[in-house]
Amino acid sequence: MENLKLRLATESDRPAIADLNTRAFGRPDEARIVAELEKAGDVLLQLVAEKDGRLVGHILFYPMGVRGKLGGAGLGPMSVDPSLQRSGVGSQLVRAGLKMLQDSGAPIVFVLGHADYYPRFGFSESAAAEFNCKFKGPHFMAVRMRYGPPMSGELIFPSALGV
Ligand SMILES: CC(C)(COP(=O)(O)OP(=O)(O)OC[C@H]1O[C@@H](n2cnc3c(N)ncnc32)[C@H](O)[C@@H]1OP(=O)(O)O)[C@@H](O)C(=O)NCCC(=O)NCCS
Repeated sequence: MENLKLRLATESDRPAIADLNTRAFGRPDEARIVAELEKAGDVLLQLVAEKDGRLVGHILFYPMGVRGKLGGAGLGPMSVDPSLQRSGVGSQLVRAGLKMLQDSGAPIVFVLGHADYYPRFGFSESAAAEFNCKFKGPHFMAVRMRYGPPMSGELIFPSALGV
């Protein structure tokens, strides 16, 4: 897409991020989760996509604890302006975020989300299978950024996610 700019989110983006999440999900829950993750200091990385000066995409990654071992990251929420969905904005945000996490040494990234969307970025149910949490099945996936620990263990989610 032309004129699409990805950048780190800043404090002044907060109202636009909340508005975007509310419109994309059609409810306020995810905007509230973003606010609570920020308040608790549970944000690892937050990127936004801008088109012609307007915020049209958002992705957040949070720290994921793996009991007794090194941690990983979790993806979500993410959202794209309803008028621009299915035009590649979300894919650019996911790829840019994963690249930045990989560069920073994150070992593994988990996601609870659409089973037919995230596999295109390397996420799979099998990569998450050795980790224990209340989620199991095709919607709970992981992508390994590098080989090595943690390979298993109980996952600890930030409290804002209410897990
Ligand atoms: C899901 C979402 C972030 C994807 O962003 P996007 O910019 O629309 O996606 P892209 O253009 O990068 O990718 C388009 C592909 O995603 C698929 N896709 C989009 N929304 C999807 C959904 N809700 N479920 C499954 N697949 C979806 C499309 O089918 C398309 O697949 P194709 O390339 O095989 O045709 C965006 O649609 C959105 O904000 N949805 C509402 C909020 C939401 O569901 N967030 C994610 C929670 S896990």
